[in-house]
Amino acid sequence: DLPEHVTIVEVGPRDGLQNEPGVVPTDVKVAFVDRLARTGLSVVEATSFVSPRWVPQLADAAEVLADIERVEHVRYPVLVPNERGLERALEADVAEVAVFGAASEAFSAKNLNRTIDESLEMFRPVVARARDAGLRVRGYVSTVCGCPYQGEVPVADVVRMTVAMLELGCDEISLGDTIGVGAPGQVQDLLAAVTAEAPVQRLAVHMHDTYGQGLANTLAAFEAGVTIADSAAGGLGGCPYAPGAKGNLATEDLVYALHGSGVTTGVDLDALVDATAWMAQQLGRPPVSRVAEAMLAK
Ligand code: HMG
Ligand code: MG
Repeated sequence: DLPEHVTIVEVGPRDGLQNEPGVVPTDVKVAFVDRLARTGLSVVEATSFVSPRWVPQLADAAEVLADIERVEHVRYPVLVPNERGLERALEADVAEVAVFGAASEAFSAKNLNRTIDESLEMFRPVVARARDAGLRVRGYVSTVCGCPYQGEVPVADVVRMTVAMLELGCDEISLGDTIGVGAPGQVQDLLAAVTAEAPVQRLAVHMHDTYGQGLANTLAAFEAGVTIADSAAGGLGGCPYAPGAKGNLATEDLVYALHGSGVTTGVDLDALVDATAWMAQQLGRPPVSRVAEAMLAK
């Protein structure tokens, strides 16, 4: 059965834009976040406080945070890999941060320049200090269905990393199919193994749509009891350190599927498609999602 209500974590402004080849002006990023926050979404991941050498597109994270119009009851988490990132995030007055590790050593090396154990040691003081400051902390586990560098990722490695991130003090773990290679049956097996060791209420899924399985995979996770899912308006997204990864599951595809199944999200689909269409115009290409395409053709 599907849950009655699903919390959507909109990652378009972060995951969606981090991979854009052309620099997106700060005011466009700000307007995108603001438009999304007015659609009824309760969580809009706004940007990343990562090394600007590694992700130049998000070098303006502080400006984005300063200029957005924070809507009451909307959370605006940001990615922080290390203490430097946390300090910048605290200066920007954030209430929630996300650390991001991986289940595969090869991806951890490329994305963080760290082994998995080193990444956990890097996150430990970040999570502790964030919690002391009263922040909510999310933890990502990437490459849960496969790795662009090492191929298969054993389920046991995903379980181990999920448990390790929870032990660090993360409130919630988002399981990321970074390159969008998973399939629903695989997600079922994965969730069965992870939920044997971690409370399902603290899990989210983060599906990329490279093979068109993002929605099916997310629904498979809901059937397993997960009630939080990440997606990006317009199906934007990708990771600069994950070659070949396409965009995230499109938020409008997710919302359409959920509302049509009687599941509430709090999101106004028309407003969401408006925000998607506006951003597509800024980027100069149409949204990839079928729902946006269908609704905009009307
Ligand atoms: P490093 O080179 O090992 O770190 O990178 P370092 O400490 O030697 O720092 C290198 C330089 O960056 C230094 O500057 C630091 O000051 C600076 P320099 O002295 O050379 O001029 N620096 C920073 N500046 C600003 N803010 C910071 C910061 N940290 C260092 N926070 C590091 C290690 C972790 C920093 C680097 O690897 C990094 O930033 N990686 C982030 C990569 C990234 O953002 N990837 C995309 C997000 S993950 C993702 O998309 C997956 C996800 O969507 C889930 C899924 O799909 O699976 C979440
Ligand atoms: Mg991602």
